[in-house]
Amino acid sequence: MSNQTNWYQEAVFYELYIRAYRDENGDGHGDFRGAIKKLDHIQSLGVNCIWILPMYPSPLRDDGYDVADYMDIHPDYGNLDDFKAFLDAAHERGLRVVTDLVMNHTSDQHRWFQEARADHNSEYRDYYVWSDTGTEYADTRIIFLDSEPSNWTYDEVAGQYFWHRFYRTQPDLNYDNPAVHEEMFKIIRFWLDIGIDGFRADAVPYLYQREGTNCENLPETHAFLKQVRRLLDEEYPDCVLIAEANMWPEDLLPYFGDGDEFHMCFHFPIMPRLFMALKREDKTPIVKILEQTPEIPPGTQWLTFLRNHDELTLEMVTEEDRQWMWEQYAPEPRMKQNLGIRRRLAPLLDNETPRWLLLHALFLSLPGAPIVYYGDEIGMGDNIWLPDRHGCRTPMQWTAEKNGGFSEADTTYFPVNDDEVFGYQQVNVAAQEDEEFSYLNLTRFLIRTRQNQPALRQGEMEFVETGNTAVLAYWRRNSQQRIFCLFNLSTKPQQVELNMKDLHLPMRDLLHPEIEPLTETAVVLEPQAAHWYIYD
Ligand code: NOJ
Repeated sequence: MSNQTNWYQEAVFYELYIRAYRDENGDGHGDFRGAIKKLDHIQSLGVNCIWILPMYPSPLRDDGYDVADYMDIHPDYGNLDDFKAFLDAAHERGLRVVTDLVMNHTSDQHRWFQEARADHNSEYRDYYVWSDTGTEYADTRIIFLDSEPSNWTYDEVAGQYFWHRFYRTQPDLNYDNPAVHEEMFKIIRFWLDIGIDGFRADAVPYLYQREGTNCENLPETHAFLKQVRRLLDEEYPDCVLIAEANMWPEDLLPYFGDGDEFHMCFHFPIMPRLFMALKREDKTPIVKILEQTPEIPPGTQWLTFLRNHDELTLEMVTEEDRQWMWEQYAPEPRMKQNLGIRRRLAPLLDNETPRWLLLHALFLSLPGAPIVYYGDEIGMGDNIWLPDRHGCRTPMQWTAEKNGGFSEADTTYFPVNDDEVFGYQQVNVAAQEDEEFSYLNLTRFLIRTRQNQPALRQGEMEFVETGNTAVLAYWRRNSQQRIFCLFNLSTKPQQVELNMKDLHLPMRDLLHPEIEPLTETAVVLEPQAAHWYIYD
């Protein structure tokens, strides 16, 4: 443990889907060579680190989260040399790169599973979790509720049931077998030796199974994850380990350990509450969940996000709130998926810039390291008619030209969005470059402004009572400075009296440099106003 600030604690992340970004060889799939050409765009956003979705060989039953070979690159994306060229090009620009580490399961096409199912005596048989009856661990919930009736599937070839927390094409690895640990350590070293800057570790709560439990967050799981961390600390000390654990704050805390497990965890519970607060015009959900969020060990950090490549998950809300969120944000049945909503950010916000700006100003001033999902920086739309979560993974829209400048191919892996509002003809990077208040330029402005303020990057947060549930206010402060963040969640003007004893006026608004500094404690806030006030 150390008290110094590590790079990842202050970083802004960008989530990149290689297949969607830019197709250089004209086969309709994005590739690393294409992504290299677009690094200038990523750099222009002011982010520090790129997180790449799984880029390994895979039959793509779960878009690459079903890995068939951990030590290679999916041929659609290029090869290892292309990956290395991408990594070098990113590093040259000061951008770090983390990749997905899918530890919980493999693809059923992985050689280990193929050998395991074919031969009881294979050394790989014990890499997976088998049963003669498929009745064990009955207290374990099903995650992909829409498509999987059970966590066990019978395999004809193996003559037994195998355990899987996700699709039946993703058999879970057996962490009771030390050989699986060794395989994972090998994979981890392989990529860190190539020079990546860390991992986003997928689905980490589910590594072990124990009868009579819900098979999540088990002590054995934490013990193994600590070993992974030790490997990083000893051999790759500047690299980051990020936990994807969709859990309540109190269950998330153990993933930080005593500063000896993950460096970072996604803060899943805050995300839906930001959307809830916005729609209800009431700050309560945000305040409550942050008050419920425990202190985390020195040297660690939360990762915050508004959207990602999955459905907007509603697992971390009550049943009542989930129904409400579906009513508000998923009016069409197709928009629902599992326990979530398969929509992108701009459509969720009805493509209204003031709402978008309010939500981003709030999100980017919260404690934690924020992630921007590719395409959201230009307000891309979704295509709810595509299967699974693919509607939020359509090609990046660069220009108004063929395929939105994504590819010269006649057919792309999924169609480029061309609907009336969000189609590439209207929504694209080129069109937004010269527009002062485009989503793109607002994203750049907000990230740059955050990056310039140490208190926003790593300061403490302290709520300020405003006497008005629609008005959210907090200080962010560190030893160098303090910033007063003030938001009107309402679509109507709101009045507040700022009567904090430590307030000294005037204060200047970082988000509206053109307006006069704040000199009065009685403030009338415009509808959906967002302010980041600072002392000169
Ligand atoms: C979480 C990933 O974000 C999701 O896309 C994937 O389907 C599951 N883990 C299973 O790997």
